[in-house]
Amino acid sequence: MKVQLNDLASQQVAVSRAALEAIARVGQGARFILGETVEQLERWLAEACGASEAVGVASGTDALELSLRALGIGAGDAVVTPAFSFIAAAEAIAQTGARPVFCDVEPHTLNASAGTVTEAIARARRSGLRLRAIVPVDLFGLCAPRRELAALAASESLAVVEDAAQALGGRDEMGRPAGAAGITGCFSFFPTKNLGAWGDGGAVVTSDPELAARVRRLRAHGATGPYIHGELGRNSRLDALQAAVLLAKTSHLSAWQAARQELAARYAEGLAGLPLEVPSAPTPPALHAWHAFVVRCERRDPLAASLRERGVESRVYYPVPLHRQPCFAALGEPALPNSERACRTALALPFYPGLSDEAQTWVIDSVRRFFATS
Ligand SMILES: Cc1ncc(COP(=O)(O)O)c(C=O)c1O
Repeated sequence: MKVQLNDLASQQVAVSRAALEAIARVGQGARFILGETVEQLERWLAEACGASEAVGVASGTDALELSLRALGIGAGDAVVTPAFSFIAAAEAIAQTGARPVFCDVEPHTLNASAGTVTEAIARARRSGLRLRAIVPVDLFGLCAPRRELAALAASESLAVVEDAAQALGGRDEMGRPAGAAGITGCFSFFPTKNLGAWGDGGAVVTSDPELAARVRRLRAHGATGPYIHGELGRNSRLDALQAAVLLAKTSHLSAWQAARQELAARYAEGLAGLPLEVPSAPTPPALHAWHAFVVRCERRDPLAASLRERGVESRVYYPVPLHRQPCFAALGEPALPNSERACRTALALPFYPGLSDEAQTWVIDSVRRFFATS
């Protein structure tokens, strides 16, 4: 049986009519860039995150970079971020001119913690770096430990910019929404995200009105008035067609989140007892957004090959830790063993709202078969 990692097409069936109607309304209104539709999405997102403001931008990567730039971070500064993640946060830090300092992740949560960030801070200080911020990542939809990171950031006078790109709908250990951990929370609307556009998009969420105003200026060429540019920004405006699609999807989000919880619980049950590390749901009020279901296996590559033979798609998130990426090799970062091990062992299994019981059972049976026969 063929089982895809993600089946975006099946999701569109439920939303395409409303999305196409919303797109037609934007067409009729002819306000294609920013405008009322984007503002409506911004209001929805701010409310969903319990923040006072949201600013729509062109991508999650831009949300991170513009957040950092709005905080005045740039050349001569350093920012801590985990080595086991997608590259966007580290890239955004580097694009501001600052230096990424990589911290390790905890072996089970795969997220940064006060312990791993403290080690990176000490290393950065020994090298004489000027630390300005921490960018924790809510990896695969699990919020990074907010309380301990906030306490550490406060004691070290560092800002927290939360990379919540994968965590919309998740909640931290205090039950607060993903994206509200720091001075800004950064979201991506890349099509495969829990709330995905029909193209690229992103947003910065904050309860600091001045910071929101600065991100708004930076996303539109640093303009302070018509054709007056107080500083250099860029073109990073969220377009209204994407906002219209996203708004059309918001009414489905809670049902999709519930489906993700059920799929995760079913995998956890079906894969119990195998020599695999299976991610577990955090203790309430924390809520995993379950962007992806990533197991860890010492024989990861043979497992992936055996799944492929049975028609099951899987994916390695992420094969190379950021401190070992060619683009960051010159930084000469030390070994970060948990991140390196995660890159050797992590494997994402098919996971999306709409994955049928039959398909999930096939995946579970295929994994079990691999261990039974090899
Ligand atoms: C953890 C994380 N951060 C940031 C991003 C960047 O988002 P975008 O692709 O919208 O630039 C992604 C997306 O792919 C991501 O997974």
